[in-house]
Amino acid sequence: MLVTARDMLYKAMEGKYAVGHFNINNLEWTKAILLTAQELNAPVILGVSEGAGKYMTGFETVTAMVKAMDKSLGITVPVALHLDHGSYEGCYKCIKAGFSSIMFDGSHFPIDENVAKTTELVNAAHQLGLSIEAEVGAIGGEEDGVIGKGECADPDECKRIADLGVDFLAAGIGNIHGKYPENWEGLSFETLAAIKEKVGDMPLVLHGGTGIPADMIKKAISLGVAKINVNTECQLAFQEATRAYIEAGKDQQGKGFDPRKLLAPGFEAIKATVKEKMELFGCIGKA
Ligand code: 13P
Repeated sequence: MLVTARDMLYKAMEGKYAVGHFNINNLEWTKAILLTAQELNAPVILGVSEGAGKYMTGFETVTAMVKAMDKSLGITVPVALHLDHGSYEGCYKCIKAGFSSIMFDGSHFPIDENVAKTTELVNAAHQLGLSIEAEVGAIGGEEDGVIGKGECADPDECKRIADLGVDFLAAGIGNIHGKYPENWEGLSFETLAAIKEKVGDMPLVLHGGTGIPADMIKKAISLGVAKINVNTECQLAFQEATRAYIEAGKDQQGKGFDPRKLLAPGFEAIKATVKEKMELFGCIGKA
């Protein structure tokens, strides 16, 4: 059964660990993440970007697949199905499609417009029992073709958005999606501490979880981060494992072409990546 992300994140914030949000793109990704969470007895958030939703033929398909898979795999750990970087329209689509959690990314709007749209969506989500994440300060890098600079959010704006009743808040602290450039300055813990001071008892979300050094992840968790998003690292692991399999000529062995065999090394690589991240985030055994 799907649950909202609210309770798992409050528990994580109190217990000083973070829950992993892993983006899904297809059946293999979803299965690998669900099985790993179950094996490690960890709560988990399945993130779906609008692009991935479209790729999977729409949010209703995604909900149907995740719900059915959760049941057929006998998953008992808490699982949230969460829209990642949702537009205003995308949020309504996911509420309708049966997601258990949404993110409204209004960070590119002027703050007053972000406030107005977030207020409306908080009410819409809460009426139907979904949790909602909001964002202040664009997260850098590219996601679904949208490039952000990697800003540091204004703590007062964070407080304004947090006070609207969102369940958890993503705030830019110099983090970016994808691989970090060589000259990356690192996370701004000053900004993170200032935001935490303003928003108080609210779980914070760290996007761009790929490639952040372990000591920075641990420090961010100690300062109130309770959800960490990972996407690129699973993609890279999948790509590398698939390439190695093909380059070794293993896809040519046996009788004919079997897509299940071709995708198996990537599937195992995602499982290993999710496990590694869950160890780092401290969420193993916390279901
Ligand atoms: P990465 O792709 O850098 O892991 O970031 C994922 C993310 O933040 C999704 O919202």
